[in-house]
Amino acid sequence: MRKTIKEILRQGKELAGETVDVKGWVRTRRGNKNVQFVALNDGSSIHNLQIVFDTEKFPEEILKSITTGSSLHVKGKLVESQGAGQSVEVLAEDLEIYGTAPADYPLQKKGHSMEFLREKAHLRPRTNTFGAVLRIRHALAYAVHKFFNDKGFFYFHTPLISSSDCEGAGAQFQVTTLPLSDIPKNEDGSVDYSKDFFGKMASLTVSGQLEGELGATALGLIYTFGPTFRAENSNTPRHLSEFWMIEPEMAFYEIEDNMDLAEEFIKYCVNYVLEHCYDDIKFLNDHFDHELIERLNFVVSNDFVRLPYTEGIKILEESGKKFEFPVHWGVDLASEHERYLVEEHFKKPVILTDYPKEIKAFYMKLNDDGKTVRAMDVLFPKIGEIIGGSQREENYDKLSARINEMGLEGMDWYLDTRKYGTVPHSGFGLGFERLVQFVTGMQNIRDVIPFPRYPKACEY
Ligand code: 4AD
Ligand code: MG
Repeated sequence: MRKTIKEILRQGKELAGETVDVKGWVRTRRGNKNVQFVALNDGSSIHNLQIVFDTEKFPEEILKSITTGSSLHVKGKLVESQGAGQSVEVLAEDLEIYGTAPADYPLQKKGHSMEFLREKAHLRPRTNTFGAVLRIRHALAYAVHKFFNDKGFFYFHTPLISSSDCEGAGAQFQVTTLPLSDIPKNEDGSVDYSKDFFGKMASLTVSGQLEGELGATALGLIYTFGPTFRAENSNTPRHLSEFWMIEPEMAFYEIEDNMDLAEEFIKYCVNYVLEHCYDDIKFLNDHFDHELIERLNFVVSNDFVRLPYTEGIKILEESGKKFEFPVHWGVDLASEHERYLVEEHFKKPVILTDYPKEIKAFYMKLNDDGKTVRAMDVLFPKIGEIIGGSQREENYDKLSARINEMGLEGMDWYLDTRKYGTVPHSGFGLGFERLVQFVTGMQNIRDVIPFPRYPKACEY
């Protein structure tokens, strides 16, 4: 029966003497006129299985067609390996070539640049690096569901097509079936959305939070985990136009409970991959980022610093650093400020709280000072903001005043949660790709999602 290479290598010498059946893609072939060695990988593990071909049994013209990238089915005896580098290998007895890969196969050599691989994103999952990243990504997704399920949270599905703008930043992709070359107009020249598919303006969601709050104020503890879309023109190593977000929302949670949950959640996820994906993490540590494992261990074993925004600003002002963007009370922090606090000042993850209300979304709970809101951003080394969240304004009058002040319309359904049986509640959003980036040490967020979308890039 066919086994995955991961399983064969796990059992290792226990299988010595048995015939194994493997299928996979050729990473390399080398050898001499007597014997040829093929490194076979089937995606199940970072490790290859060495297949040994005796040239007396397999004629040269057949072996020559086993090029890098070609796909094989091999049966043979598993034996202890003579060579260094692997403990077992397979002595090939039967060979079936599913498909050869001509010499123009783009992934010939090791060490292609990330930029080159991004242009070959349809093939890059076959490289060691992307294999490792994608296996870790899977494990993290599983850890997310396990963490919340074990804590009694319900996975709540919020819509991807939405008629509200959660973050109010106006960075939404519109969803329409109106003919773009002949848009129906009202008398005043505005678009007549009554003729559109939904009879009103609709967009791809930037966040499932507002609908998530409807779930939390009924089921108590919920989380969402789905794609979100942002049409900001951000060409940075930390922004995507389509990214996945995890948004827990908890009835009866105050901001402190929210911070405790966020810290426990991130540590759980990092621990999970250290425990379950060590080979992949080690590969990334050895090949790209020699401090990766150290950084991951550091994060799981240290308390995050909790600091009000106002104190954070004071630290930045007194740092004597020349920042590209000047800093004073009231500014939204740029990545350079966040990273100064985390990487240079505290040398620990920081949860920054109580931001000025002007720079945060309308739904955040106003503090007694009337100036700041109960926001919390979790700031991480190398990444900057990894989580954004807050306690929510549960007071009907204050929330509706804020909604009016900001000129938001069509929010009655949201206000109903405050009108009928309102409760204190809190939640946050973790950018899944930023978590994958942190855990893998990848420099660019475009390299932790199989098919990245960013301005001017929508391949496949
Ligand atoms: O801070 P944000 O905008 O918060 C919200 O959307 C809230 N509704 C969350 C909530 O309270 N339920 O986004 C949350 C997180 C950020 O901290 C960041 O990690 C990630 O989402 N994020 C992005 N990740 C990749 N590309 C982008 N363009 C991102 N924008 C935000
Ligand atoms: Mg944010």
